[in-house]
This record gives sequence, C-alpha cells and structure tokens, in this order.
Amino acid sequence: MNVDEFVKRYATDRHNTDSVKWDGMDELFGTNDLLPLWVADTEFKAPEVVIEALEKRIQHGVYGYSKTPDSYYESYCKWQKERYGTDIQREWMRFGTGVVQSLSTLVNILTQPGDAVMILQPVYYPFMNVINQNERQLVVSELKPKGTSYEMDLDDIKQKIEENHVKLFINCSPHNPVGRVWSSAELEGLLALCRQEKVLFISDEIHHDLIVGERPFISALSIKDGLYRDNMVMLDSASKTFNLAGLQNSHVTIPNPQVRERYDLYTARLAAPAGNIIGKVAGEAAYSGGAEWLEGLLNVIRSNYTYLKEELQHKCPQAVVYDLEGTYLAWVDLSAVIEPEHLEYIIKKKAHLAVDFGTMFGAAGKGFIRINLATTPANIKTATAAIIAQTNC
Ligand SMILES: Cc1ncc(COP(=O)(O)O)c(C=O)c1O
Repeated sequence: MNVDEFVKRYATDRHNTDSVKWDGMDELFGTNDLLPLWVADTEFKAPEVVIEALEKRIQHGVYGYSKTPDSYYESYCKWQKERYGTDIQREWMRFGTGVVQSLSTLVNILTQPGDAVMILQPVYYPFMNVINQNERQLVVSELKPKGTSYEMDLDDIKQKIEENHVKLFINCSPHNPVGRVWSSAELEGLLALCRQEKVLFISDEIHHDLIVGERPFISALSIKDGLYRDNMVMLDSASKTFNLAGLQNSHVTIPNPQVRERYDLYTARLAAPAGNIIGKVAGEAAYSGGAEWLEGLLNVIRSNYTYLKEELQHKCPQAVVYDLEGTYLAWVDLSAVIEPEHLEYIIKKKAHLAVDFGTMFGAAGKGFIRINLATTPANIKTATAAIIAQTNC
C-alpha cells in the first residue's frame, strides 16, 4: 500500500480519546497544545482485520476468564518463522501486560538487590528505571558513534562486566533510540561474551517488525541456530507494530526450562496478570492478516524519514539525522544548531513540538531529540519546518 493510501485509510484524530500522547501531554510538557511526536505509538488505526475480530468478540458480550487459544500461538509462531526464520516453541511462551512490566519482573527473578545489570546507552529510559527502581546497580556501556550510526564497544562491555560482576544484560534489538538493527556478528559477539562471563541476557525485540533499512532483523534466539537460547529471555509484543499498546498483551519467551520454572513460581506468587482476551484477539488477528497493513506503515515511516533527513540536509546541514535501520524513531543531533542548554525551551516553547529529549536516554543524548515518525507526512513537514525555523542555519 502506498503512503497516500495508507494515510487516507488509517490516519485518525486522537484528540479526546484519553491518549497519553495527545490528551496527556500536559503532564510532561505543561500544555496539550504541542504537536506530539513523543510516546512511541502511532496515529494510525489498526488493520481492519483487527477491528473486525475485536468487534466480533465484543459482540459476544461475555468477557469471563479466558485462556490463550491454540490459534494465537499458531499465528504468532508462524509470523516469527515465516518473516524472520525465528523458531519459537509454544511451551517457551508466557504472557505479560507489557514489555516493561516483564522487564521489571525479570530483573527481580534473575538478580538480587544490589546486583549489577548492564545496558547500552543511549537507550529507552525504562531500562534505567527498572534497574534503579528495583535497587540494582546500573552499569552502562556507551554506544560508540560511527559516522551517522552507532556500534557496540565489546571491549568496554567486557571490562565493565568483569569490573562490576554484572549478572544480567538487557539489550534493545532493534535499538531505541539509535535505530540500529544489530547484525548477526554483533549479536553473536555480545551473546558469546555474556555466556562466557555467566551473564544472563534479556533481548527486548518489541521493534522487530519495524525494519525500514536494508539490514534484516535477526532474533537473539536464532543466533548460531539457537546456541545461546538457554541463556536468554526474549520479550516482544504485537503492540508496537500494530498500535495495540492500550490492549496490554505481550510475550515472554523463555527457552530454558529452569528459568521458566523460576518465572512461573515468581509470577504465581505475585498472582501476576498475564494479558487479557481482548489483547489476544487483536494480536492473533494482526499476525494472521496484518502483513499488508504493516507494509503500508513501513512505507510511511521510510517516506517520513527520507523527508526529514533530506530537508534538514538541504536547509540545515549541521543538524545530523542518524541512520534508521529499525524502529519508527528518528535520532537527531541538533547540538550544532541549537544550544543544548536551550534545546528543551526552544523545541517546546518556540517550535511547539513535544518530542523526547536526548538526555532522557542517557548523558550522551545531550543536544539530541527523538522524533516519532509514525505519523502523517503533514505532521513531519510541520515539525521539520518548525525545527529549521528555530536553528541558526
Ligand atoms: C524498546 C522498548 N521496549 C518496551 C517498550 C514498551 O513496551 P510496553 O508498552 O509493552 O511496556 C517500548 C515502547 O516504546 C520500547 O521502545
């Protein structure tokens, strides 16, 4: 589906729908009058197949206790296998109400208070929160900028793992906010190091369907034909891909039976929620019939990214738009064109944009903003012009 058709069919006004991004902006930005390009959800309706499946289920009228149907597992495992070659066995799967909820649960299961947990920064800020709020020690390896992209620094990772006796590594793949889709070689290096150092591994793969560059996505589960599977938990959800975050259904994939047993014991003790039938109906429908819709969404993201990059390159070449291999989040360095100390004030008060500021993702994000591209081309045009107008280009 081309960009115009997708936008015409699915773009929807979200004002007054209790959307965090639009109606809840004032909590963070002090006003609801900015153009919101922050929270990572989209302005697009879910695929028709999802809405139809939900309508059918809603019309049934009885919403009692429910189990995950066989057909859910089948559609999800097929999606994973056919699109990415990832083998997932249904007995590995558990369910949560969200990836961040599962991250926090796993930090509690896999580590003790005071244990060191490592991440690569800049990264999605709830990674830091779940480590700090659960009173674990945050250990950071900075991603190394390389041109308009980033690399992992395996030597630094190894040194910090050893110095801090790191117990758990949380990786974001594809990486929010820097837009990397990690190569097999990079993941293999990291996974081999973690196994050698006896560091458990969590792979947050929530963005794995949002591949917009040339590099194909590979799950950590598939590296070396699953050699590192026993050392990891993989987290994902249909929510980011199909804009279903409000339905609170996510996957916790645990190939190692001993880790699974610990997970089951812990979640039973908490009587932890494991998603709900509405989220599962939506997810199954999306995996079964949402592929064409997803192609349309990816076209919109690519087109918005290209516009933003080319327009800035042309009118404000010192603003640097980083490469986007995956996610719908553009990582933009404005430090050469807007004084980093004044960035928040200028972007909010002068450009009237609600974006995520780079420092939320770690100190190295100073001077950067993260722009959510999963919106209409008109919004990206407005935002780009508003940024350019505030720079000293
Ligand atoms: C890397 C990453 N993990 C998790 C989430 C949130 O997932 P959930 O809403 O399922 O907690 C996001 C949302 O932006 C994300 O970017």
